[in-house]
Amino acid sequence: MKREGAGRPRAVEPMVRVEKVSKRFDDVLAVADVDFTLERGAFLTILGPSGCGKTTLLRMIAGFIEPSAGEIWIHGRPVRDLPPYRRSVGMVFQRLALFPHMTAAQNIAYPLRMRGFPREETAARVERYLRLVQLEGLGERRIHELSGGQQQRVAIARALVFEPDLLLLDEPLAALDRKLRQEMQLEFRRIQRELGVTTVNVTHDQREALVMSDRIMVMDAGRIQQMAVPETLYHRPENRFVAGFLGLTNFLAGELLDSHRGHARLRIGDMRLGGRVADPSIPPGARIEAALRAERLRILEEDPGEGWDTVEAEILEVIFEGERLVYSARAETLGDVPLRFVDADPLRHRRHRPGERVRLGWRASDLMIFRAEPETATTVGQPEREDNA
Ligand SMILES: Nc1ncnc2c1ncn2[C@@H]1O[C@H](COP(=O)(O)OP(=O)(O)OP(=O)(O)O)[C@@H](O)[C@H]1O
Ligand SMILES: [Mg+2]
Repeated sequence: MKREGAGRPRAVEPMVRVEKVSKRFDDVLAVADVDFTLERGAFLTILGPSGCGKTTLLRMIAGFIEPSAGEIWIHGRPVRDLPPYRRSVGMVFQRLALFPHMTAAQNIAYPLRMRGFPREETAARVERYLRLVQLEGLGERRIHELSGGQQQRVAIARALVFEPDLLLLDEPLAALDRKLRQEMQLEFRRIQRELGVTTVNVTHDQREALVMSDRIMVMDAGRIQQMAVPETLYHRPENRFVAGFLGLTNFLAGELLDSHRGHARLRIGDMRLGGRVADPSIPPGARIEAALRAERLRILEEDPGEGWDTVEAEILEVIFEGERLVYSARAETLGDVPLRFVDADPLRHRRHRPGERVRLGWRASDLMIFRAEPETATTVGQPEREDNA
């Protein structure tokens, strides 16, 4: 969006500042002490399981519900007393809420009419935004004459046409089939970059979050678990929840022996292993969980050398997923938990069969150590890969 001109706040101000915001519905603390800022032009994704407070947070930013505590600032202004239509926020909901009796063009023109834009400028903008979402020539179609993906684009154009400071997206892609969803993710990103509009996107699809975002906020039970760029979030999760929510992750319960400058020694089952620990406050003797990404664990055909840990294991299962194989195996010395790992290049490797004995290995630095959470036993992480929908 264009931001030059008189009276605009300085460029250094964040577009959104959320300060210690909480929302309580009776006995449910839906959002708890959430605190962050969002720079102008950034694309933030809020990622988290169902019920963790994503929509509630978004609706507070949009102004549809009031925080129980805390303050929200948009463009340097506290918005407590501003109703939604005065917040310069465009929003696309999961259910698109398009007007079915209107044409695509009329839908897109609607926010401009509400704001009293002159007729000519309205027509010109509608044309421009139809083009932007690649619906040129389809403006006269009614909503039911458009495909799901095309309707999605009408909703995007309608949210953007009045050139808001902020675009809020509440799982607008969730209803689409996977292929179209992936196309729309890239499409969204293109439009967002082209316009430079600051965007907050909500999803529970980890792949969508990784693909689209400058930054990702992982939420659980109303709280921010971690907020970081996608690579950091994936490679340096700060706690067990984040490690388990992204990627295909094995968890092994054990005990910390000692740690020094991020290097840890630990015991799992009968084995002593090396690992990497981000939290220096975990004391020796503490119960820990070691997380190992499926793609970091592999079958070793030869001696891996320095810095690796290895175990004997029996293949339990092989799952064909097209471009890759997902194995599960049992290593008796680590306890009875199945370990999952991925062969991402199955054309170059022999396929191993259930019952075969193999040697598995990983780099000690790939074993991430977290404080054990009270209720979690020895488990494996999310069963789903990339597409949790
Ligand atoms: N109006 C309401 N009244 C009472 N409780 C509510 C209300 N809206 C949300 N909640 C509760 O607040 C919590 C957070 O809900 P929210 O809709 O923000 O979750 P979400 O992360 O968007 O989940 P989903 O991924 O399923 O959309 C839930 O426990 C929900 O039941
Ligand atoms: Mg929601």
